Amino acid sequence: MRIRVTPGGRLEGTIRVVGDKSIAHRWLILASTASGPSRLTGIPRSHDVRSTASCLAELTVKARPALDLWARNASSWVEGGGSTWNDMPPVVSNGTLEVEGEGRDRLVHPGGRLDCGNSGTSMRLLTGLLAAAPFTAELTGDRSLSARPMERVAAPLRSMGATVRTTDGHPPLVVTGGPLLGIEHRMEVPSAQVKGALLLAGIAASGETVVVEPTATRDHTERALGALGAPLRREGLRIGIARFQHQGFDAAVPGDPSSAAFVIAGAALTGSEVSVEGVGLNPTRLHFLQVLSRMGVVTETSVVGQQLGEPVGSIHVASTAGLRPTTVRADELPLVIDEVPVLAMLGAHARGETRFLGASELRVKESDRLTALVQGIRALGGHAAAEADDLVVEGGGLRGGVASSGGDHRLAMAFAVGSFAADRPSEVEGMEAAAVSFPGFVEALRSMGAAIEVIG
Ligand code: S3P
Repeated sequence: MRIRVTPGGRLEGTIRVVGDKSIAHRWLILASTASGPSRLTGIPRSHDVRSTASCLAELTVKARPALDLWARNASSWVEGGGSTWNDMPPVVSNGTLEVEGEGRDRLVHPGGRLDCGNSGTSMRLLTGLLAAAPFTAELTGDRSLSARPMERVAAPLRSMGATVRTTDGHPPLVVTGGPLLGIEHRMEVPSAQVKGALLLAGIAASGETVVVEPTATRDHTERALGALGAPLRREGLRIGIARFQHQGFDAAVPGDPSSAAFVIAGAALTGSEVSVEGVGLNPTRLHFLQVLSRMGVVTETSVVGQQLGEPVGSIHVASTAGLRPTTVRADELPLVIDEVPVLAMLGAHARGETRFLGASELRVKESDRLTALVQGIRALGGHAAAEADDLVVEGGGLRGGVASSGGDHRLAMAFAVGSFAADRPSEVEGMEAAAVSFPGFVEALRSMGAAIEVIG
């Protein structure tokens, strides 16, 4: 899909964004391995979450029909003619998925390979789950996922007792699970996916499993396990967990703050006042609001409830006082890892140079985002460079141009939003990639007033 964005519009109104993908992966895994039924609402129909649901369908007996049906419906909804924003709220927000868990010990050998599609989170978390399962399973992914590093999750799981074979450190992975023994693992690279995988293995291991993070990352696995009553100890960056079988649960997935970030950035670039409701307000996901505040964007958050340990509420973009440049330090980076693309677009419109320090992890995301952001900003008529592992974005505005997503969902959405404030209309190719995390993105922004046309 190719779009044309005409600058000069404004966004307005209150919106609910698609459910949180990080949370949905984890809750689907926990529901499928609970010792009883769970009811989940607001599971996003994004490609990545569908990958997790279809893999779990292959691994379960009682949960399989519901997971299969959900994954098939989600796929026809996103790819079929029904993928408009307007029909989304009733289907996505109120659709309930009932998952019949039978306990972790009842996972079954999958008939074929487990296809994780584009989703690193599916592959890494499922590897942690399968580390304790007494059979062999193969996990594969698309071209982008097949290039991503997997030793960071395979190596600690081997130390716990699982057999995990990678292909030169990458997918496909072949996992033969078995009895696990708790270990203490100090992660070299901050990664919520690796931490989550080790905690999922830890609840099946004997003894205590301790994970020590170099810097804080999103804590959805810890929050869910804690809310389910797991024996979890958290002391700063040190998390300990012991064997535990959880029961079923009812929960509604909050809106995805990383998807909301595109709406918020769009409002900032067009001087608009908007609100996002029903969104997850987990502090490990909201650091981008602090970066935005340094750039002159004033936002207010308000918590109205909790779902399985996750605060939920609203984010209001109050005003933007001319965009200031900022420097995002290396220790902040893991907390804004998914928002770097859209923050970089704001940087391109700021009055001076914005830097993202120590951003090498961007090279092993769904694409080499460090290189692709530099190319995309240049293609849209701005200036950016990669200096060693730093991303340097020169401010001053974008002239407009034609950028390609390269199949990366967050780049597609960032380039679209960055074009809102360009000097002339711009085009973005490969916009369909947005459905990996935010199906209905174009319709959602159009419904708020953005001038986006689908031209091919
Ligand atoms: C995620 C963790 C992050 C993030 C990804 C989702 C998760 O990856 O980039 O989009 O759900 O745990 P890393 O843990 O590899 O940094």
